[in-house]
Amino acid sequence: MKFFIDTANLNDIREAQDLGVLDGVTTNPSLMAKEGITGKEGVFRHYKAICDIVDGDVSAEVIATTFDEMVREGEELAEIDDKIVVKVPMIREGIKAINYFSEKGIKTNCTLVFSAGQALLAAKAGATYVSPFVGRLDDVSVDGVALIEQIVTIYRNYGYATQVLAASIRHPMHIIQCAELGADVMTGPLSAITALFNHPLTDIGLAKFLADHKKAGTK
Ligand code: G3P
Repeated sequence: MKFFIDTANLNDIREAQDLGVLDGVTTNPSLMAKEGITGKEGVFRHYKAICDIVDGDVSAEVIATTFDEMVREGEELAEIDDKIVVKVPMIREGIKAINYFSEKGIKTNCTLVFSAGQALLAAKAGATYVSPFVGRLDDVSVDGVALIEQIVTIYRNYGYATQVLAASIRHPMHIIQCAELGADVMTGPLSAITALFNHPLTDIGLAKFLADHKKAGTK
């Protein structure tokens, strides 16, 4: 399973990269705004800074909502770096744009996916990644992990190349459940990734090993 970090915060990206478990980054306009990144130049510079930190794919979302504008914006974003994946919303114009980018060899991430039918359209359009939002479905009392299972099954049935990118991941159990189901990628905050380290028996066990080692040394 690939681990992407879902943030535009350079410190968090560096920390995840330093851990040696990071495969890529996803961003969205809200995450960029949270870091105070504004203006086309500022946004493009920030994407380049992210690309310079990580080894893998970096999703950069278009703001446009019409085919022509999405194509223009996506092509500009793709010029920033080879690592850029153009993130396109799951709307009619977006599916057309994904089809266009796919034919041009530009990587895409179809975002704001909340149903299996939407995921099917993304795959047929040739999206590189599809992003079902697990946490946001849970927020409205719909089982987000169940959607991952549905999409993985459908994609396997037909051998679609589109990778299932479990997005809106909020906690370690989301990561584990999506991994069990065979999601290709998960994207979540640094806190969800580092929470995977936690187990009290590890801490207790290490403390005992070190104490025993110290005791033996004093004999
Ligand atoms: O980047 C898209 C998605 O991961 C958003 O997550 O936590 O805002 O629902 P969240």
